[in-house]
Amino acid sequence: MTIDNSSNQDLKELRIPRHVAIIMDGNGRWAKERGLPRTEGHIKGQESLKATLKAAAEFGVEVLTVYAFSTENWNRPAEEVDALMELLVRAIHAESAELIQEGIRLEAIGDLSRLPQTAYEALMDCMAQTSAGKRVRLVLALSYSSRDEIVRAIRRAVALQASGALTSQDITEKAFSALLDTANLPELDLMIRTGGEERISNFLLWQAAYAELYFSSVYWPDFGREPLLEAIRAYSDRERRFGKTSEQIQLGDD
Ligand code: IPE
Ligand code: IPE
Ligand code: MG
Repeated sequence: MTIDNSSNQDLKELRIPRHVAIIMDGNGRWAKERGLPRTEGHIKGQESLKATLKAAAEFGVEVLTVYAFSTENWNRPAEEVDALMELLVRAIHAESAELIQEGIRLEAIGDLSRLPQTAYEALMDCMAQTSAGKRVRLVLALSYSSRDEIVRAIRRAVALQASGALTSQDITEKAFSALLDTANLPELDLMIRTGGEERISNFLLWQAAYAELYFSSVYWPDFGREPLLEAIRAYSDRERRFGKTSEQIQLGDD
């Protein structure tokens, strides 16, 4: 194997985001352009996820959160929904051993109660089996939408209040974040959307408050190490000001 030292050198100079989220979009269009059924795009998309995860681990990203299936995706034709759920189960079974071996911890966010039982059980098994993984956390957003997540968090808050465990004074930004599905994840640094659309489609709205956004025209089935590196380079070149002035940031004033 030849090692590309120029790109390794380059990597050392980059500011690596701790938490990257990806809206994996463009599978259907990728397939359509090739005269293939949409499912073929989803199948190829799973390979992209493997390559992207491997690259994220190589670059030192700690958490990779991927939008795999949205609440709104339940409204797609039943055949496509069924095929996606079946692919999910198959991928979990096929990849579990490698995830364990590579130190990848699988987690999930979303309203998992809506998943078919086979998918739910496969997911829970894999999450338990990989829970000791220390290298990268791979978080699957499944049956997820941000507004749904926020509404579920409010329901939790109301239930806590009813039991006397919470008063309105206790509800701070930090306390509210702790009621979201992402409670145990670090702040989101970089959100990438592939496939050319420039919208968030109900993904991590609260969490993206100060994330850098990056839109790639590459369809998800063509995504992988190089496009991820390009996104991280763009991130690394940006100045995150969090409302302050550039001068304050350069003086390291925090
Ligand atoms: C993303 O690709 C995968 C899911 C939403 C499940 P799409 O299936 O949305 O592909 P396009 O956007 O139609 O090309
Ligand atoms: C967002 O893609 C959801 C996922 C990638 C899972 P969509 O294809 O569903 O989003 P829209 O419909 O173009 O906004
Ligand atoms: Mg799409």
